[in-house]
Amino acid sequence: MQKRITIAIDGHSSCGKSTLAKSLAKKINYIFIDSGAMYRGVTLFCMRNQLIENGTPLTVEVLKHLSEINLSFRYNPKTDKADLFLNDENVEELIRLPDVAANVSKIATIKEVRQKLVDEQQKMGVKGGIIMDGRDIGSVVFPSAELKLFVTASNEIRAQRRFDELVSKGIQTTFQEVYDNLVQRDELDSNRTESPLIQTSDAVVIDTTLLTREEQLDLAYQLYQKTIA
Ligand code: CDP
Repeated sequence: MQKRITIAIDGHSSCGKSTLAKSLAKKINYIFIDSGAMYRGVTLFCMRNQLIENGTPLTVEVLKHLSEINLSFRYNPKTDKADLFLNDENVEELIRLPDVAANVSKIATIKEVRQKLVDEQQKMGVKGGIIMDGRDIGSVVFPSAELKLFVTASNEIRAQRRFDELVSKGIQTTFQEVYDNLVQRDELDSNRTESPLIQTSDAVVIDTTLLTREEQLDLAYQLYQKTIA
């Protein structure tokens, strides 16, 4: 039987990581986990429970409530994707809204939040055969992953893609709002103390600025084949 490896995909906001991870997972029959959805789920919980004040998380309060947050992924046959559930409620659509995006990177700076989610992510990956995307997957969650990809694209392309995605879902926003959020999150994600976004030295860079989805998938698939050979 073919070896089932671990594939870590990291990169800046809206660079196409999840799209690539999802399509590669489908092609090679691996589990796909969007770790960002989990940070978004914690953020939604905090927003609903008034644990964020004027854009700043009330860290002591957040920690008190951490054990009440149960996250899980459940397959949705309608979309052929896994949806995020927060305490048994499907929050897949809610966590993609701009107000969650505006708060998530601050919540993601909290050490204990990261510890909780990293622990859960590592458990999901014990058997291999998994592709996980995020910011600290190759550096912290799966430092021994057999294949690590670092995905990147220009700011303009990333903002345009995310803007188009939100508009197609009927979400009210502007290109500028999306662009500003992306730049702000990149800044927070790359400069935080706890496991910042870094490109590990063993990661292969894929710049998606000029690549179609098919070309990105072909490239990642070739790298996968080379890794398992
Ligand atoms: O979809 P997009 O690339 O814009 O972001 P995401 O993957 O949904 O992640 C949302 C936010 O969660 C990021 O901007 C990070 O602040 C945080 N995150 C993280 O800190 N570590 C991860 N492994 C994944 C996400």
